[in-house]
Order: sequence, then structure tokens, then C-alpha cells
Amino acid sequence: MSVPALQIDKVSKDFGRIIALRNVDLIVQPKEFVSILGRNGAGKTTLLNIISGVAKPSSGSVQLFGTDPTATVNKAKLAVISHEMFLYSNLTAIENLEYYARMYAVSDLDQRIEDVLNDVELRHRRFDLVATFSRGMTQRLTIARALLHKPSLLLLDEPFTGLDQHAIGMLIGLLQEQKNLGRTILLTTHDLHTAKALSERYVVLEKHRIIEDGLMADTSPDEIRTKFFSGLTTEKEL
Ligand SMILES: Nc1ncnc2c1ncn2[C@@H]1O[C@H](COP(=O)(O)OP(=O)(O)OP(=O)(O)O)[C@@H](O)[C@H]1O
Ligand SMILES: [Mg+2]
Repeated sequence: MSVPALQIDKVSKDFGRIIALRNVDLIVQPKEFVSILGRNGAGKTTLLNIISGVAKPSSGSVQLFGTDPTATVNKAKLAVISHEMFLYSNLTAIENLEYYARMYAVSDLDQRIEDVLNDVELRHRRFDLVATFSRGMTQRLTIARALLHKPSLLLLDEPFTGLDQHAIGMLIGLLQEQKNLGRTILLTTHDLHTAKALSERYVVLEKHRIIEDGLMADTSPDEIRTKFFSGLTTEKEL
């Protein structure tokens, strides 16, 4: 078997007295699409931060494509979409994308920027300052920025937050495209139907540990909700 896209060995993370993760093991093969499910505070964002190298585990180890997450080689392979936008509000949309395209040495820069702006339907606002963007528009630009350098591994932390129904459909389409292109994708979401539609595998984090690692084909959103998230609120959400 090839080198895993991601290998997590016995990762624990504490914030002072708060336990965020305990002895998490996870292996994700290239081209897998895995949904990471769990209640608020289960440790999903912490896990993604550790995978991307933003946070250090208190103990245990993480490897991306066989090397340390912070290795330079991984910077080009990785993209993160989260609540942190990583955009400059005093620059226009196109200036932001040019900045990142140069940083990642994207080839055929102008065409690539045009393509991602079209992907997220923001071309008409490309010369506007990000400071003037609505939340959903900023999220769309974050998505464009993340896809710009054709990353091999996508880490998506509740990427649908702030998007309208149309933009949610657009992002689902883009993620299906990324999947077909053979990217490895990890997604956290509270929307079990979207998780089911997109990913073939899911893990459930509960009380800082992975308590389930299963195939979407073997289950349904209702079954997952009943088994792991019963007693919670709405139809669609966890
Ligand atoms: N910087 C921090 N300082 C202190 N505690 C933190 C920090 N970041 C996370 N935690 C704690 O770690 C635990 C896991 O938080 P995390 O943000 O990973 O949860 P989550 O599964 O992403 O939740 P949500 O669904 O609300 O996004 C929580 O108890 C949280 O309070
Ligand atoms: Mg979170």
C-alpha cells in the first residue's frame, strides 16, 4: 500500500487542564474522503489544527504523506478552509489571490485565478476590497484561495458556515469535483446528510476519542444521529 496521506499515532492534546484529544489514532489513505463528526467541543477543530501543523500535539505524532505536517513540502500539498479566513481585508479579491498564487508558485497564474473566481462565482467582484465583502462572499473567496494551488489534502472545518443555499450547492459540487480529481479530503460538519452525500468514510469523536470509524455505505444519517447524537435538536443538524 502507498504512503498514507495522513497518519495519526496516539495523539493527545491538552489546553492546561482542558482535555481536547486523548490517544487518537487515524490513518487516511490518498483519495479518501472522511467526515469527522462530533458534538460541540468534541475535539474536531483541534484535530484539524494538529493535522495542519497550526497546533502541536501534547503527545503522539502526525505525518502527512510520510513527513512532518510543518515540513515545507507539505505547505504546497495542504489547504485549510475554516473560520479563519487567511485573507487581507485591505486588498481586493484578485490581489489576495495573486498574493497566494505567488506564494505557492502557481503556474499560469492569471488563468488559474480566473478559474477559481469563476468556480466560486465571484468574478464580478474581483476588483473590490475584501473588507467590503459579506460573510458568505468572504467564505467563497476563502474557498477559491484554498483551491488555487491544487492541494492534495484538503482540511475543511465546517466550510458551509455562512453560505446561502445556492453557495452550499456550489461548494458541494466543487468538493465532488475535488474528490474526482483524487484529492484526499477531511471534512467536519454537523450536517449528516451532506457528510453522507460527500464522504465514503466517517469517524465520530466523543469525549476526546474516536469512538466509531465506519463506512457511510453501511449506515444512514438517521442511524448515525440515533446511535451517537440522540436527544439533540433539529431534523437536519446533530
Ligand atoms: N485554544 C484553546 N484553549 C483552551 N481550550 C481550548 C482551545 N481550543 C480548544 N479548546 C478546548 O478543547 C476542546 C475541543 O475543542 P474543539 O474546538 O476542538 O471542538 P470542536 O469539536 O471543533 O467543537 P465545535 O463543533 O463547537 O466546533 C473544548 O473543550 C475546547 O474548549
Ligand atoms: Mg470546531
